[in-house]
Amino acid sequence: MARPVTTIEDLRVIAKRRVPKMFYDYADSGAWTESTYRANQADFAAIKLRQRVAVDMRDRTLATTIAGQPASMPVALAPTGLTGMQHADGEILAARAAEKAGVPFCLSTMSICSIEDVAEHATKPFWFQLYVMRDREFSSSLIARAKAAGCSALVLTVDLQILGQRHKDIVNGMTAPPKLTVKNILDMAIRPRWSLGMLGTQRRTFRNLVGHAKGVSNLSSLSSWTAEQFDPALSWDDVKRIRDEWGGTLILKGILDPEDAEKAAETGADSIVVSNHGGRQLDGAVSSISALPDIVSAVGNRIEVLMDGGVRSGQDVLKAVALGAKGVMIGRAFLYGLGADGEAGVTKCLDIIRKELDVTMALCGHRDIRNVGREILVPGTLPSPARHAEHRAEAALAAAE
Ligand code: GLV
Repeated sequence: MARPVTTIEDLRVIAKRRVPKMFYDYADSGAWTESTYRANQADFAAIKLRQRVAVDMRDRTLATTIAGQPASMPVALAPTGLTGMQHADGEILAARAAEKAGVPFCLSTMSICSIEDVAEHATKPFWFQLYVMRDREFSSSLIARAKAAGCSALVLTVDLQILGQRHKDIVNGMTAPPKLTVKNILDMAIRPRWSLGMLGTQRRTFRNLVGHAKGVSNLSSLSSWTAEQFDPALSWDDVKRIRDEWGGTLILKGILDPEDAEKAAETGADSIVVSNHGGRQLDGAVSSISALPDIVSAVGNRIEVLMDGGVRSGQDVLKAVALGAKGVMIGRAFLYGLGADGEAGVTKCLDIIRKELDVTMALCGHRDIRNVGREILVPGTLPSPARHAEHRAEAALAAAE
């Protein structure tokens, strides 16, 4: 009998078996030494929770809003590139699992299924993530397509003007679709489930771009596409221009520094996502969870703060909420579910996180996620720079007394 799946790690292990190496590695890697990628998880693990007893734990609720939209728990599916290469039609399946679970799904610009593909199969509005391109006409056409598809928020990624190097993608020669080399054919042949799925779909390359973007020589390679197309001159004025062009709910993703958070808040965006792009961009940057408290103190009263990076459990979600995040985005956690078992795997991932979050919140003495705050965390266990913020807050309190 198969071992029951009880954790996100279980899903990861199955996904690693089922997904061809180049795509599993693409999702599961960080830039250069991967130190920031590892810090995202390690810093979550270091934070300790305060156990409370003999408090009423009946009638609990995880329901909240993210970017002004209802969510059954403070979790959204992050925009992840090449999701449809973890499993055939991956973006459509993940969007379906998210809508059934009552959480937002965000489609990446670098998706395999297009905006139109997802819109055709989704029954609820989803979010669209935009990279700022040199070709403004093309950026505008993506915004227009997202509007036409009824997308309910635009997530503008501001931390990937140029691509951080991920060694594994270079070694694996990662492209979508994969090049038909002997090595790749063998790798796909030993994963018949994945390969049959791919044979049964037409969606095997970057469908937001193919047939839409002009003058790109090698569309199948992420690195050459980003180098040719992404705008290295992106500025806060561009962000404001896109805000006006979109005109709807705007989320700025990729803020890791309080000074940038200030600038982001000035743009009038609805939310920011504290993020280091899952450790895939600046290797050596601080973990997202350690950057969160300073950013919340800087701008939390002016703009909604979300976070991503390293979330692998409901306990992690609770810690982020306790440190002031209105919600978190999960990327790899849901990709593992998708690679392991398609839509059912994403549903499993969301179920695991929901149950962990619910019980952990109760054991910390809370019944409503909206009331959870820093009091559930053991002081002194927050990773720096979060610990610095804590010490500063204590010093300010002491000075005020
Ligand atoms: C962006 O799409 C990435 O690969 O991190």
